[in-house]
Amino acid sequence: MGPADLEKLISGLNLYVDESTLVGVGDDGGVYLHRGNLYIHTVDFITPIVNDPYLWGAISAVNSLSDVYAMGGKPLNALAIVCFNNCDLDVSVLKEVLKGAVDKLREAKTVLLGGHTVDDKEPKFGLAVTGVCKDGKYLTQEGAKVGDILYLTKPIGVGILTKALKSDLIKEKDIQQAINYMLELNDIAGELALEFANACTDVTGFGLLGHAFNIARKSKVKLVIEYGKVPFYPTAVDFVQKKVYPKGAMDNYNFVKEGIDKGSEPLEWWQVLLLSDPVTSGGLLMSVSEDRAGELEKKAQEKEVSLWKIGSVEEGSGLLLLR
Ligand code: CO
Ligand code: CO
Ligand code: CO
Repeated sequence: MGPADLEKLISGLNLYVDESTLVGVGDDGGVYLHRGNLYIHTVDFITPIVNDPYLWGAISAVNSLSDVYAMGGKPLNALAIVCFNNCDLDVSVLKEVLKGAVDKLREAKTVLLGGHTVDDKEPKFGLAVTGVCKDGKYLTQEGAKVGDILYLTKPIGVGILTKALKSDLIKEKDIQQAINYMLELNDIAGELALEFANACTDVTGFGLLGHAFNIARKSKVKLVIEYGKVPFYPTAVDFVQKKVYPKGAMDNYNFVKEGIDKGSEPLEWWQVLLLSDPVTSGGLLMSVSEDRAGELEKKAQEKEVSLWKIGSVEEGSGLLLLR
């Protein structure tokens, strides 16, 4: 069983779309034209990934806002999605979750307009976010070009680290670096993407390989991922080698396997799982023309956005080449 993919589920259904639907189901968000403005609409909600409810709320908000930034947009407002059972957990816990989210919404200058709560044994929290496109421009997963360079803006491995946390093998303070990255808005990274990238997505639940595969498929190119250049949290590398990893990592790998070019260099089982590790509040994966790469790297440094060059784009038909 892999993750359910809405795009696959609705294929073949008689979906209503209109001439204002510029990007429909299947990208990071939808893009809709209304009275001359282009709006981005997206929703994300997650189960707790850290023990501290304030941090969970903050990370979830950053994660939900991320799809708007991945399309190069600016979030305007949000609605909260809350699944919570106040017999199992004290309502003060939920207040902390909301406090974390509200603080991040303030940082993102995004208005909370409302929300909806449902009674649920397994708590979940997230946001539906509406954003606007700047100057009518937006990015999708289509548009990566042969010769482009691939950049990633946050390290990989939070799924493995949070699995270790849930298994009591590690304390929250031991994954502070990963928490700091998860708390970081992709706002400036998104501005850089809009200025420099040909295609962009945020790396989340499907893992680096899953999201890279989406760009390869939609752009009809081959994405080359160089394992040695991908940034991983060192502790995540230690844990995966000890067979500590979330089930989702294996699910993601099984899902993306068919998309891996036969000419790929064989990787160790744990290297493949690291590349497939489900991410929460991950960075942006951008495909950038080689002649603009230097300028992007300079600007990223000025604006203190982390940037790793992890591969390139070659001619192909929607596959991933690992080496
Ligand atoms: Co996304
Ligand atoms: Co998302
Ligand atoms: Co309601």
